[in-house]
Amino acid sequence: PQKTYTEQYRPQVHFSPAAHWMNDPNGMVYYNGTYHLFFQYYPKDIVWGPMHWGHAESKDLIHWKQLPIALYPDSLGYIFSGSAVVDANNTSGFGKNGKTPLVAIFTHHDPKGEKEGTDKFQNQSLAYSLDGGSSWTKYSGNPVLKNPGIKDFRDPKVMWYAPEKKWIMTLATQDHISFYSAPDLKNWKKESEFGLKEGAHGGVWECPDLFTLKMNGKTYWILIVNLNPGGPNGGSATQYFVGNFDGNKFSPLDSSTRWLDYGPDEYAGITWSNTGNRKIFLGWMSNWQYANQVPTKTWRNAATIARELSLQQSKGQILLASRPVAELKNIETKPIALSQLTVNGSLDLSSKINKLKSRYVLKLSLNTLKDYGIRLSNAKGEEVLIGYDQTKEQYYIDRTKAGKMDFQKDFSGRFTAPRLSTAKNSDLTLVIDKSSVELFADGGLTTMTTIYFPTEDFSKLAIKTNGKLMIDNLSISGLKSIWK
Ligand code: FRU
Repeated sequence: PQKTYTEQYRPQVHFSPAAHWMNDPNGMVYYNGTYHLFFQYYPKDIVWGPMHWGHAESKDLIHWKQLPIALYPDSLGYIFSGSAVVDANNTSGFGKNGKTPLVAIFTHHDPKGEKEGTDKFQNQSLAYSLDGGSSWTKYSGNPVLKNPGIKDFRDPKVMWYAPEKKWIMTLATQDHISFYSAPDLKNWKKESEFGLKEGAHGGVWECPDLFTLKMNGKTYWILIVNLNPGGPNGGSATQYFVGNFDGNKFSPLDSSTRWLDYGPDEYAGITWSNTGNRKIFLGWMSNWQYANQVPTKTWRNAATIARELSLQQSKGQILLASRPVAELKNIETKPIALSQLTVNGSLDLSSKINKLKSRYVLKLSLNTLKDYGIRLSNAKGEEVLIGYDQTKEQYYIDRTKAGKMDFQKDFSGRFTAPRLSTAKNSDLTLVIDKSSVELFADGGLTTMTTIYFPTEDFSKLAIKTNGKLMIDNLSISGLKSIWK
């Protein structure tokens, strides 16, 4: 056990670095039974600084082991966000003696160029690993994709496009996406642009992702685009488009803006490569509005729980649904299950969680959805309220009385998300850690992530209703710390 993982606010079921600053997840790739998670990391302070790729790995997407730093800044600049692929056919030529190369594609951000105002300070580069992701060598021919003169030119996400035997790079280019292709990960050619008219544009487009998912036997292409600021509840957030990609161009099914997570605290989320039919998503559990100021002392910021994505049809649209990965079971303790409960006003469930150390999964199912509120609180009267407002057809998370919030003016707030299901019945899953809650409602159609910093752990739990509410099933499972 690592004793650094016992501080106040330290997530016990989410990845966070042992010390220092973390932002975006990077280079997520599954290889040989191991999930790699790299991340934007500054190993000298708890604020953002010259970026490195930190590294952690997991066998089950839940228990993480932090490893030595994978990539350090160099003469071409800081190591910004990017992706990693398994180059099974050795298209890059990095493979030697039959060893399969893993290739990382990242942005080199040159701080000198930025100061000089050249608009050409972000370029795409490569590094490769011949030992399954443990150690990395930068390519001597870096950068492989030079900036044509666009200030924001970054966060390459690369995938193999089998029909044309080429790699596709999805790149965030200021206020739109640019697609590039290469047969060998080195010689990139521009294919097309997307998004000048579509989607939300309250800020810069960052950290995109492109992948397929099937629904009813049909394949759809999903384009994720992170946006900062301009999210539905302020600051950073993740939007996505559903459509088609033909190797050259992305065409959306419609022009509406969809949000993968409506909460304030999921950002830069993208998916793992090389996971077959599964699409596993993970985001940074913070917001650029206050990520540099949150009241943790030795480390800053954590990742969300890994989430399985699927497509669902609702309200005449095809939407992404997110659910915690099934592997969360690996740390769940035997559930306390209650059924056919009638709540009239208030039900105190504190006695059910008093041994659970403020970390558990709470599940509700309702045959008839009505107003409800779930209150996490402590003896000091600090609280987070999570619930559903029937009149507005909205889920909400209210952290206006959640304890510490004076560190930044935008932190306090009540955040809402539309209900995207039209079903009469409803289900809710809350993944609760010491200082965060992730809400997955209606099979994950509505998702919200929120962090909070009570001065004392939330040891109480109650359900509040407006008149009588019948809860068909309620279960609470403790979560074992992933650090033991
Ligand atoms: C997103 C982001 C990326 C960039 C990285 C720098 O949070 O701004 O666009 O690559 O962070 O750390």
